[in-house]
Amino acid sequence: MFNSKIIGLGKYVPENIVTNSDLEKLMDTSSEWIVERTGILERRHIKKGDGEGVATMGVKASKIALERANMNAQEIDLILLATLSPDYYFPGSGVLVQDALEIPDCPAMDIRMQCSGFVYALATADQFIKTGMYKNVLVIGSEFHSGGLDMTSRGRNVSVIFGDGAGAAVITRTENNKEGILSSHLHSDGKHSKELSLIGPNTGRWVPEIIADNNPDDISYYPHMNGQFVFKNAVVRFSEVIMEGLKKTGWTPDEIGMLIPHQANLRISEFVQKKFGLSDDQVYNNIQRYGNTTAASIPIALTEAWEEGKIVPGTKVVLAAFGSGFTWGSVMIQW
Ligand code: ACO
Repeated sequence: MFNSKIIGLGKYVPENIVTNSDLEKLMDTSSEWIVERTGILERRHIKKGDGEGVATMGVKASKIALERANMNAQEIDLILLATLSPDYYFPGSGVLVQDALEIPDCPAMDIRMQCSGFVYALATADQFIKTGMYKNVLVIGSEFHSGGLDMTSRGRNVSVIFGDGAGAAVITRTENNKEGILSSHLHSDGKHSKELSLIGPNTGRWVPEIIADNNPDDISYYPHMNGQFVFKNAVVRFSEVIMEGLKKTGWTPDEIGMLIPHQANLRISEFVQKKFGLSDDQVYNNIQRYGNTTAASIPIALTEAWEEGKIVPGTKVVLAAFGSGFTWGSVMIQW
């Protein structure tokens, strides 16, 4: 059995910065409310018409990760792309990335696990590497939220939170079983699937039917979130799944070098930090600058933490996520 380890990280966010004051001009909200409830100061939105999307952002992040891994794209054996906002209904965005990176014929798979997408993708990559089936895996989280948000007062509880961006990691085989991904822990509970969802159009009610109904109150094609309910579940599941990883690895909270929680809400991260008694240096947050970028949030934060020298060989890294599904998970990495 092999272990897998991350040898290259990259991120890409669109240049267009949307501040809270910009949103105040579009909807009935205030910068004060957004900062107090979420911690977000600004986020990035793709400018309509500039040709950017999930695959193009994923490619940009991947090229940086590959260069840092000192690897040619053609050495990649498998692409795993996590997103809830794929470029098309089908095919997935993974094959678009494969084509753009000119990797002939390697499998390219989309992972549809929302905010837990990157954690699920990393755990999947680890399994393929452990069994010896693949050696080098490109794992991407990429989201283009801004194209599908209700930017009026009606959608304010959701639309102020989400931002666009991508992060990527190159994972490779290591024969040292004391380094790299030591364990991963995945969960889901479909009981609450509707509490954070986008359900229309769907195969039971396709676009022509929605148009024919001509119902201005039908907003099923915008994301719906029962914020408080999601929040309450998130703090419990984050804590449980981090604890599960600590038990499996035998690490104590004070040994954690860097916890990278999915950037859902600064208050959720602060709750988790307090629960495990972690110092500010042990937790990485950048939701202030990017909002919630769903599957991209962990790889963007991981990349920045690494770029800032906060993750070095020997650092014990914990990744943890919770999101729509509900889905949740953690990955424990000995860097
Ligand atoms: N600006 C101003 N007021 C607002 C806004 C806004 N943008 N949005 C909602 N409000 C109002 C509400 O209408 C409500 O007003 P009322 O009291 O008059 O009815 C009031 O603010 C409070 O609303 P709540 O929804 O109770 O606010 P809360 O403190 O719960 O914060 C939030 C909302 C930020 C969405 C929070 O619940 C949250 O972060 N939830 C968890 C999100 C999460 O973890 N998601 C998981 C990952 S995402 C994924 O998987 C895709």
